[in-house]
Amino acid sequence: MKRLLVTGASGFLGSRIIEYYRDRYEICAPSHTDMDITDKEKVAAVFRDFKPHMVVHSAAISDVGVCEREPEQSGKINVDGSRNVAEASAKIRAKCLVCSSDQVYVGSQVRGPHKEEEDVVPRNVYGREKLLAEEECLRLNPECVILRLSWMYDTRTLKEGEHGDFFRTLAQRLQTAENLSYPVNDVRGITDVNEVVCNFERCMEIKGGVYNFGSPNDRNTYETVSVMFRELGWDEARLKKDEDSFRALPRDISMDQEKLKESGIIFPSTVESLVRNMRDILPIKEYEAQGE
Ligand SMILES: NC(=O)c1ccc[n+]([C@@H]2O[C@H](COP(=O)([O-])OP(=O)(O)OC[C@H]3O[C@@H](n4cnc5c(N)ncnc54)[C@H](OP(=O)(O)O)[C@@H]3O)[C@@H](O)[C@H]2O)c1
Repeated sequence: MKRLLVTGASGFLGSRIIEYYRDRYEICAPSHTDMDITDKEKVAAVFRDFKPHMVVHSAAISDVGVCEREPEQSGKINVDGSRNVAEASAKIRAKCLVCSSDQVYVGSQVRGPHKEEEDVVPRNVYGREKLLAEEECLRLNPECVILRLSWMYDTRTLKEGEHGDFFRTLAQRLQTAENLSYPVNDVRGITDVNEVVCNFERCMEIKGGVYNFGSPNDRNTYETVSVMFRELGWDEARLKKDEDSFRALPRDISMDQEKLKESGIIFPSTVESLVRNMRDILPIKEYEAQGE
């Protein structure tokens, strides 16, 4: 059995990686306390002992607001920690997948869908840290596969206390709110985390570099939800335009998929997956409602 090491295994993404790969790989999932990624010697020792074939580096301060408030601490984890993981993987020749973010495109002067080779100057601390981490990981380990992930969701909550996401917030609002409002000045991909997780294994075969990695979507969030409503035959009158969010600095961080497609990895579109997932949960919800 091949060996897989996952950093950030208690997080939203990490816990789903463990769930999906636990029967296919021998897994090492050190907790934050077992292996603080900012501790270079500890990281090197854990990697040396376990000798993974593949590493998924998902540990991070993933909250954009926390990075703005505590840049020193987040920089240590998001940049220095990533550097340690990339270097330790290089030493044992493990394929290292590094989780980056579409937030590197925030502030881009070019309209989306954005390409990986574009010059980017991220506008927020988190985006700048992720970009620096990408550069450092590739410098230390050119075989690293850097994955620029979009906003991820699951239909299921795996653990109490895990952070919310687009889908579950929407599903909840559908039941409680009369009207739902979504921004017209924000364009980005929104991706089912399960599709991300199952595509990780294929990244073992692709060459080192940066890849946009998530569902394509060229619609703003209001249009995205509208099209989903239409496809499901729901009443669009419930949807309102949020004209205020991102008004001063409209955001388009949608990502081009060509490079990923050339590597044989294809994600369904944001709307396609949202519609499928809504259809999947609806019979259960209706069933639960009847039972009450
Ligand atoms: N979720 C998204 O929609 C999204 C979108 C784009 C990119 N990403 C990227 O994808 C990755 C996973 O995101 P996520 O949502 O799963 O994040 P998350 O739920 O916030 O999980 C982060 C994980 O990192 C661990 N961690 C933090 N500091 C650490 C340290 N110094 N040493 C070791 N472990 C540490 C945390 O452990 P403790 O909780 O024990 O500290 C937790 O397990 C991140 O790199 C994130 O930037 C996420």
